[in-house]
Amino acid sequence: MDKFLFLCSLSASAGVMDLQYFLCWRVAPLFLLMPCGLHCMSVHVLNEEPVHVIPGSSLVLKAQIEPGPSEEVSVITWEREPETGIAPERVTLATCPGRSPECTGTRPNVHVNTKQHETTLQINGYSRADSGVYAVTVTDNRGTKTTAHCIVREYEAVHHVSLSINVSHSSLVCGEAWGTNPNFSWLYERDAVTQTVGQVSKDGTTLVLSMTPICGHFTCVVSNKLGYSSATYSAGPCEKEGKGTSAVVVCLVLLLLLFGGLLAFLLWRRYRSNNRGERLQNHLDDTV
Ligand SMILES: *[C@@H]1O[C@H](CO)[C@@H](O)[C@H](O)[C@H]1NC(C)=O
Repeated sequence: MDKFLFLCSLSASAGVMDLQYFLCWRVAPLFLLMPCGLHCMSVHVLNEEPVHVIPGSSLVLKAQIEPGPSEEVSVITWEREPETGIAPERVTLATCPGRSPECTGTRPNVHVNTKQHETTLQINGYSRADSGVYAVTVTDNRGTKTTAHCIVREYEAVHHVSLSINVSHSSLVCGEAWGTNPNFSWLYERDAVTQTVGQVSKDGTTLVLSMTPICGHFTCVVSNKLGYSSATYSAGPCEKEGKGTSAVVVCLVLLLLLFGGLLAFLLWRRYRSNNRGERLQNHLDDTV
């Protein structure tokens, strides 16, 4: 930055307008890109972005500061602005003198702790209103500012799990609306899915079916830190149940045949005994 200003003022004094602008805006940025030259302080947030916070718990953001060889941190500022919006309003959460380890925020639930090359922001009792883009700005003893950003969002529960079948590709697709870090798992008839049923895709959202015909109950369970929700797809009864009903039918037919046979036998016996009685009568008539 020093070199940049120096170059600009130098060319301005030379009085050659075109060359001056060329040098200022084309060459000067190269100095800014140069690794740690005369002036190089850096700050970066250590949390992995985006940070998701469960409402009611604490948000803790850590940032590492690396001052250049000839620099000292004079002020550290933590700010926040909404992630979206036309004119986002920036809110200052804490302004801390670089040397002091403790520094109170602008609200009672905001705490900032600064160690040698590290500053930590803690917000207790996180609520949805605390979501946004957080910025930590470090000002050095010459007044140069360096800023790092970090997106913070509310950790959302699993919402609206749905399950649909892709008939042309014999696969089941599980969907979820806006839960944070959803984890998908599959059940077939309340047991874990096996190779004979199908193969779950890498991201867990699709179950490619290998069973034919497709039958039974498929369940997709979506979970995260706040709980789980599920959806079930019913593909009609399986062959096994069909075999059961046909067995019942066969039994009934056999029973009917047996009953019919018994009836026929009884009728035949009755007919025969009647005949014999008649013959006996005739024989008696003959002898008398
Ligand atoms: C079925 O799955 C294939 C492959 O993933 C996809 O290209 C196709 O659009 C899906 N069809 C429907 C109706 O979703």
